[in-house]
Amino acid sequence: MQAVRKYQAPAPKPFAKQGNDMKTSLCEMFGIEAPIFAFSHCRDVVVEVSKAGGLGVLGVGYYTAEQLEVELKWIDDHIGGRPYGVDLLMPNNADAEAHSRQIHVEELPQEQVQFLRKLLDDAGIPRLPDGDTSLQEEVSRITMTKAESLRCLEIALKHPIKLVVNALGTPPREMVDHVHSLGIKVGSLVGKVEHALRQKEAGVDLIVAQGSEAGGHTGTISSMILWPQVVDAVAPLPVLGAGGIARGRQMAAALALGCEGIWCGSVWLGTTQSDLLPEMKERLYAAKAEDAVQSRSRTGKPARLLKSKLTEAWEQPGAPKFLGMPWQTMVNTEPRLRIERARNKEFLTCPVGQIVGDMKEENTVKQVIYDILNEYADTTERMIELVSE
Ligand SMILES: Cc1cc2nc3c(=O)[nH]c(=O)nc-3n(C[C@H](O)[C@H](O)[C@H](O)COP(=O)(O)O)c2cc1C
Repeated sequence: MQAVRKYQAPAPKPFAKQGNDMKTSLCEMFGIEAPIFAFSHCRDVVVEVSKAGGLGVLGVGYYTAEQLEVELKWIDDHIGGRPYGVDLLMPNNADAEAHSRQIHVEELPQEQVQFLRKLLDDAGIPRLPDGDTSLQEEVSRITMTKAESLRCLEIALKHPIKLVVNALGTPPREMVDHVHSLGIKVGSLVGKVEHALRQKEAGVDLIVAQGSEAGGHTGTISSMILWPQVVDAVAPLPVLGAGGIARGRQMAAALALGCEGIWCGSVWLGTTQSDLLPEMKERLYAAKAEDAVQSRSRTGKPARLLKSKLTEAWEQPGAPKFLGMPWQTMVNTEPRLRIERARNKEFLTCPVGQIVGDMKEENTVKQVIYDILNEYADTTERMIELVSE
């Protein structure tokens, strides 16, 4: 069997030109050299991943349609024609009332608002100045109505995207058919086999099987168990392994378990191109795997986050109950703004997976990708040697 070549980091040319292309079905589907898919809210990360031979996917989250247009235009201007995608929140499971009209700050549940206000007051974190409009602006952005989501989708479809990923629930069949009619592929995140089967039924082209190690909203099944179960259940649909991948050994494991590629989120948070506060990045580099805890404190749904004094406060006796989506996110907006402005390292938190324990220093996106590919090459070589001996 042919030996696997090493990738040069930093490489003078895209590694495909050095004869290193990988041929999984997802490389063929998207015309990419390495089946590394990157979820990021940061446009610079998306561009760098795609330029390095993978596929960047912009997490649209709570962007307004106008903001999304600006971000996508910027990506188009910088990505050099490389393929990329978008990941949209279609809020079909969240509180219908909160998603049908604008919510004003005064309407937010006061028990939770006052609890958080006192917590930060006691820690000496300054309040927002009187007359500051940023809180209402942020809360309005979280009021993502279905109409606004669809507007975001329509804007995205006017750009040369190659993939739309639906983050919450099963995409409606009409939406999948509409996206397909434009020659664009559709993917969906799942944490359980039954969800994967529902997505297959809905007509998606690929499944992202996300294990419980992941940053952000997660289920309870770990990647090692989930990936092969989903691969078998949805075959021949291609599956991307997600949750706990930031190294080549983990990529090799995902491919060995039947995945056709990997989908990473946490690892980009610590890169040079990530727009996180420097203080937040420092906290990530100092964190251990066990500091990425599952908590309902951010959005009301279980999500893996970096432990901080804010996440801990919600677990204390006497803490108010968690609200549903999107109310919990809304009541968290004022403390988030206060903590970020104060750059308070003890209270700063963000979604991140258990792989945070391996993130030790700032690297460029390109370096991260080449490190993954080099370790993948070493691992594959080792496996081939084990078999031939
Ligand atoms: C900061 C952060 C925010 C995330 N937000 C979303 C989101 O809005 N939509 C989504 O589909 N996935 C989201 N995710 C999950 C990622 O898409 C991805 O599945 C996950 O990060 C993979 O596991 P990893 O964190 O171990 O790399 C988020 C992940 C992180 C780290």
